[in-house]
Amino acid sequence: MTDTLTPVLSDIWDADRSWTLATYREHGGYRALARARELAPADLVELVKASGLRGRGGAGFPTGLKWSFLPPPDGGPRYLVVNADESEPGTCKDVPVMLANPHVLIEGVAITSAAIGCEHAFIYLRGEVVHVYRRLLAAVREAEEAGLLQGLRITVHAGAGAYICGEETALLDSLEGRRGQPRLKPPFPAVAGLYARPTVVNNVESIASVPGIVLGGAEWFTGLGTPKSAGHGLFSLSGHVRRPGQYEAPLGITLRELLELAGGIREGHRLKFWTPGGSSTPILTDAHLDIPLDYEGVAGAGSMLGTRALQIFDETVSVVRAVSRWIDFYKHESCGKCTPCREGTYWLQQVMHRLEEGRGTPEDIRTLEDVAGNILGRSFCALGDAAATPVQSGLEHFREEFEAGCHTPARDLFPYEASALA
Ligand code: NAI
Ligand code: SF4
Repeated sequence: MTDTLTPVLSDIWDADRSWTLATYREHGGYRALARARELAPADLVELVKASGLRGRGGAGFPTGLKWSFLPPPDGGPRYLVVNADESEPGTCKDVPVMLANPHVLIEGVAITSAAIGCEHAFIYLRGEVVHVYRRLLAAVREAEEAGLLQGLRITVHAGAGAYICGEETALLDSLEGRRGQPRLKPPFPAVAGLYARPTVVNNVESIASVPGIVLGGAEWFTGLGTPKSAGHGLFSLSGHVRRPGQYEAPLGITLRELLELAGGIREGHRLKFWTPGGSSTPILTDAHLDIPLDYEGVAGAGSMLGTRALQIFDETVSVVRAVSRWIDFYKHESCGKCTPCREGTYWLQQVMHRLEEGRGTPEDIRTLEDVAGNILGRSFCALGDAAATPVQSGLEHFREEFEAGCHTPARDLFPYEASALA
């Protein structure tokens, strides 16, 4: 089964001092940058387009196509901004990349900057992960001192830890020194981004995948994964699995295969529900063990691939309690800019708490459906939709548990086990 794994980004994670320039170079690091510098920028963009790489931050927008949206050079600056503000509940793939091998990201930044004509790149990450911030700073310094960046300036910026700052335009506002709130799109950042200049915003894993594509070629990359979802990806398994962690595999692998790699569900228990890509993607059940984990396969099952954050819940977990915790998160993180999300998350939280405590009414369930339906598609950014999603998918698959919340507290139906996360 281990041949299902495709270690590319994670290939040196177990090496001694894997985060250093010396180790990265021992394993072939920065060869891709040298090769990229022999290519014309337009050829680099074409290579990434041909590879079929799709944005690994969750939305899956084609990376090379995004690069090609930049207007022709006009003599002014153009920026690359790496979105390292990983905050989606359950998502834990970018932090391991940056901790274990920051140089693969820096090499990707240098190659991408060459492709789009950028002389100043930014990496924006959460302020709470101070250890990652320090590691990135040290790695950028190492690359600079080794003369690898050839004048490219890389600024590592620590945000203040707001989930909304992972939304690309809120991130740009925050980077410019303002309160992070989403901007109206269009114009997309490719046209008017940081300081209103053409800007490519890409996720850490997307940029870190670029050196491999330059070395391996587009055909190698499209040979992995499935026709419309090429390449490898980091799948993060958390929750009730025996060996939680990151598993790097071609897109299209199934949860059944990943569970085998992760040692299965904890002993004596069975899979109840799971998220394919963090809490903003509709939950799925044990009926979906064999769907291909690629963009199309997961969409066909009524969910989204998102960030491949597979949160696994066994039968000891109350869906109402899990959804309630996610709603607490979205209510707390709503930036307040638009009414459906600001007011809607408040009401979702009120109702979810009543149901969790067994104080709900049948009217509450109708209110949940109504509020979630009015948030979805009517909010200013994706955070609103993300809040509505667990409610709607929870009701779709486990309505009886919401109805039970009209008379019985979740803690009585599903006594909390301290060992549940052991
Ligand atoms: P989106 O689909 O609106 O945009 C995706 C990307 O494509 C953006 O960079 C956008 O600028 C670009 N784009 C789309 N159409 C374009 C056009 N016509 N011209 C130029 N560029 C264009 O999705 P969004 O709102 O950026 O991201 C939502 C996703 O983020 C969700 O699917 C979710 O999975 C993910 N997410 C990830 C988190 C994390 O921690 N990594 C946190 C929360 C959500
Ligand atoms: Fe802010 Fe929520 Fe509206 Fe997004 S959907 S702009 S987070 S209030």
